[in-house]
Amino acid sequence: MQSPFILTDRRRFIATLALGAAAFTARGAFAEQLARTAAQTEGPFYPDRLPLDTDNDLIIVNNGITPAVGEITHLSGRILDETGAGIRNAVVEIWQCDHEGVYIHSGDVSRKPRDGNFQGFGRFLTDSSGSYYFRTIKPVPYPGRTPHIHFKVKKGGRELLTTQCYIKGHPGNPKDGIWSSVTDPRARESITIEFNPVSGSAIGEIAAKFDIVVGRTPTA
Ligand SMILES: [Fe+2]
Repeated sequence: MQSPFILTDRRRFIATLALGAAAFTARGAFAEQLARTAAQTEGPFYPDRLPLDTDNDLIIVNNGITPAVGEITHLSGRILDETGAGIRNAVVEIWQCDHEGVYIHSGDVSRKPRDGNFQGFGRFLTDSSGSYYFRTIKPVPYPGRTPHIHFKVKKGGRELLTTQCYIKGHPGNPKDGIWSSVTDPRARESITIEFNPVSGSAIGEIAAKFDIVVGRTPTA
């Protein structure tokens, strides 16, 4: 059996180590603090009436067998705090127009018929690593706007961020007033992401990754 002296000494040693690690982590976190994802306007088309199906597969509505028209896109990422830690149980909502540029919002005055097989809105609850996933279509332009997908992140009933993500290199971006209003290059980069072909996909699927850094992380 160890003597009390050795035990105490050992405890002190462990405490010293822990303190050192904490100091190191604090320094590291400060030095490597992530830039928050730029906020963007919600716009007029957040659904005024949510669809019956609000899952994370926007290609199929309920048990439909006809998929939405568009380029199938696997959209994933993580919700992070400024230290890079994943935020679990965050609600990620996306909404976007269909392949003809029509939103599910009743106020969308577009005269084109809406693709009834496109869900237009979806929700996902992040897992323990803060990850989310949606299957949707690659966003398309509509009059006055470059392609984009709207995002809202909530946790514990609080809205953490409302933003939009854009296709990196799309020629419509510089002409888009909302994208262009973000003038800081890092902020612009935070909402402009790559949409890349999935290698080996026979049907031309696309993958896009959008990590979102939020500033407030309520524990609820
Ligand atoms: Fe929009």
